Parts: sequence; C-alpha cells; structure tokens
Amino acid sequence: MEKIDLPNSPFSLFEQWFDEAKKNNSIGIPECFCLSTINKDGCPDSRILLLKGCRRDEFVFFTNSLSTKGQDLRDNPNVAMNFYWEPLGKQIRVQGVVEKLDDVESDTYFSMRPRGSQIGAWASNQSEAIPSREYLENKVVEFTQKFEGNEVPRPAHWFGYSVKPSKIEFWLNKIDRLHDRFIFTFQNDTWVTSRVSP
Ligand SMILES: Cc1cc2nc3c(=O)[nH]c(=O)nc-3n(C[C@H](O)[C@H](O)[C@H](O)COP(=O)(O)O)c2cc1C
Repeated sequence: MEKIDLPNSPFSLFEQWFDEAKKNNSIGIPECFCLSTINKDGCPDSRILLLKGCRRDEFVFFTNSLSTKGQDLRDNPNVAMNFYWEPLGKQIRVQGVVEKLDDVESDTYFSMRPRGSQIGAWASNQSEAIPSREYLENKVVEFTQKFEGNEVPRPAHWFGYSVKPSKIEFWLNKIDRLHDRFIFTFQNDTWVTSRVSP
C-alpha cells in the first residue's frame, strides 16, 4: 500500500482493517484494544477494553466511571488506544480525548446487555478492594433480588465514553522489519497523512 492509496479519512481505513479482523476466524475478539490513561500524578496505566462503536469520527467504549481508569479520565481526558491483530500483521494506534457519551446512548447500550452483566455492573465497584470472592457473589445475590421482576436500570456511574482522535497510525507488518507506517494527524479541520520510517 502506497501513501497515494490512503483515503482522506482514517476512519474508512480503520473500518476496512477492523472488518478484516472481524472476518478472520483466528481472531477471537477483534474488538479488543489497549486503553492507556494518565492519572493525576502523571503516571500512565493501561488495560484491555472492548470497542463498542466506531461511528462518525469517534471510537466508543463503556466502563465504570468510578474505576481507576474512570478516575484517570476525569482528571485527564487524554488517552491512547492500541489495536493489534496478530494474524493480519496490523496495528492501529490512536491518540485522542475522551468525552462522556450522552445518557440516552448509554441507556440504549446498557439495555441490550445480558441481564447478568447488568447485575454485575451494580455488584462490582470496579477497581475497589474487596475482602473475598464471596463478598462479590453476595452482592450479585443482593442486586438480583433487588431488581427481580423489573428491568435493571443503568447505574449512573456506568456509561460510555467516546474518543475523538487527533492522531491515528496504521502499521502493517512487512519483511525484514521494513514495515509500512502511515500517520493521520488532524490539523486545521482536516486529516494530514504522512509515511514514517519503521
Ligand atoms: C478481553 C477483555 C475485555 C474487557 N472489556 C472491558 C470493557 O469493555 N470495559 C471495562 O470496563 N473493562 C473491560 N475489561 C476489564 C479491564 O481490562 C480492566 O480490568 C477493568 O476495566 C478495570 O480497569 P481499571 O482498574 O484500570 O479501571 C476487559 C478485559 C479483557 C481481558
């Protein structure tokens, strides 16, 4: 792939590669990406999440906003995302800023989750220390009983974030480590592309 073949928007290329990953049977969870955040002391942290949407010009994921990552995002909205699909030899790196998704979109997504996951969102104070596995299981029983016969509402602290990217890099494995790397940078309301050395 030459630079001249690059589309104007990185999102169409993202979708092309993501579709390829979804069609590849040897990739178990193509939606997996590593999200890196920075806490209030400037220390980085990272963890695997699932991409739940790539639409318009943003990426969407869901989590507990009181978790470690949620606190990081409150203190510093700058994030990095990294996708790597080994069988395709493809990596995508994203830098951007998160925003809270609106409540209606978070409600819609939450309502589509399996009931067990909905209960889990109430039972788990994500990233908080707990005394035992039993403690967590008791919480699940407690919330299962609490919501019995009713829809499980979305906890206010559990919602979606959208990442608005400022930079996206596409990396393609090539022989002798002479990989292709293309960078899209958002400048003056437009995406500027460049090829960089591997
Ligand atoms: C395959 C996989 C998918 C995951 N997806 C999510 C997700 O979409 N949202 C989420 O909050 N945690 C997800 N997790 C758990 C996170 O990696 C992490 O343990 C959790 O969010 C707590 O992170 P924190 O303490 O940094 O906030 C996933 C873990 C794995 C291994």
